[in-house]
Amino acid sequence: MELVEPSDRYRKSFEAALAEFGSEVIPGAYALLSCSTVDEYLERVRKDALGEDLPEGFVPSTTYWLMEDGEYIGHVNIRHRLTPALERLGAHIGYAIRPSWRGKGYGTQMLRMALEKARSLGVERVLITCDKDNIASRKVIEKNGGVFRDEIEVEGRSTPTLRFWIENR
Ligand SMILES: CC(C)(COP(=O)(O)OP(=O)(O)OC[C@H]1O[C@@H](n2cnc3c(N)ncnc32)[C@H](O)[C@@H]1OP(=O)(O)O)[C@@H](O)C(=O)NCCC(=O)NCCS
Repeated sequence: MELVEPSDRYRKSFEAALAEFGSEVIPGAYALLSCSTVDEYLERVRKDALGEDLPEGFVPSTTYWLMEDGEYIGHVNIRHRLTPALERLGAHIGYAIRPSWRGKGYGTQMLRMALEKARSLGVERVLITCDKDNIASRKVIEKNGGVFRDEIEVEGRSTPTLRFWIENR
């Protein structure tokens, strides 16, 4: 299992995963909303990592795909720094595991590997948010050393947001 840069090599598996996600809102994949093809998406995430042509108010972010035996299993998106908006929602790392691979420990392992990547990007104290009712995500965060910070209301969201810190030195 490894984190790799998104690549056309794995397009088939990624497209199969997108079909599985269906109409789910996919955390860590904002770029999918603004891109109409996988090619566009690959170009967008490449530029995001370099900080090129970022949407207004966005900071550079790096996306990795979790791969096993050539299969796309999930992704993480690591924001290089926080903004006031990210402080409240999204924070440093967003992630998702494709539906058919959930509940098998991949989410926990993927965040562990993402924390190493974040460390190499210089993020020594990682903020992560999740919806209060997202029990799986909360467990993934806490199993990676997440310490509960607080519960906040975010405008436009009906579910409270939980914030966690992870020391990442
Ligand atoms: C959150 C998510 C990444 C977790 O990935 P995963 O691979 O299923 O997680 P794991 O298998 O490592 O499970 C972590 C823990 O959550 C538990 N869990 C998994 N799915 C669960 C569910 N639907 N309800 C309750 N607990 C669940 C597991 O049992 C495990 O706990 P345990 O160690 O006490 O047994 C995945 O569910 C997902 O992609 N969800 C949609 C996107 C999302 O919510 N992203 C996070 C945004 S903050």
